[in-house]
Amino acid sequence: MPSSATVLAPGLVLFQSRLAPSVQRELWQTCRALAGGPVPMYTPTVRGGRKMSVGMLCLGKHWNGLTYTYEDTRSDYDGLAVPPIPPALASIAVSAAADAGFTMQPDICIMNFYSETARLGVHQDKDERPETLAAGIPIVSVSLGDAARFVIGGLSRRDPTSPIILRSGDVLVMGGPSRLRFHGVTRILPGTAPEGMGPGRFNLTFRQW
Ligand code: SIN
Ligand code: MN
Repeated sequence: MPSSATVLAPGLVLFQSRLAPSVQRELWQTCRALAGGPVPMYTPTVRGGRKMSVGMLCLGKHWNGLTYTYEDTRSDYDGLAVPPIPPALASIAVSAAADAGFTMQPDICIMNFYSETARLGVHQDKDERPETLAAGIPIVSVSLGDAARFVIGGLSRRDPTSPIILRSGDVLVMGGPSRLRFHGVTRILPGTAPEGMGPGRFNLTFRQW
């Protein structure tokens, strides 16, 4: 495993500053272009009618926030077909997963945009195929722009959580026995984005369906 990797728990590996500043800036621009592209970023309404505070754009497959299932068109929003994952993005996830000891073929990328006031409640990512979850095939998270206070817990919602600051260029792998840990984003740290990025934060989570 590369020396910059921190194993926080079995299957939970943080690669700090994995992406070079120039790569981060390029990715930031790619995210902005995707967000404002023909299939734009939007604000999901989830089951129960609550609007999320993050902007979302799914690539590869669309996560439907009303049914908690994946689909090929955005049937809960505008019916548009889901854009593909750019191969250069997917390779970031494949290589980080490999360095953490996992094999994955990402076919979903959820791009979230956090303004300075956005949050993501504590949740488990368990809408992928049961086989994927059972095999512990990881989720790979890439952070860009402003730093975030991310919290990670256990396999039960009642388990205590620990904070981790995720900064621009960090890559977090959650796989194996950590694949189903509860996690969330409690706050964005305004003004912390490196030059050429921000305000706000993009997070990309790569998943295998
Ligand atoms: C997520 O939990 O799906 C996103 C996490 C993050 O924004 O760091
Ligand atoms: Mn998640």
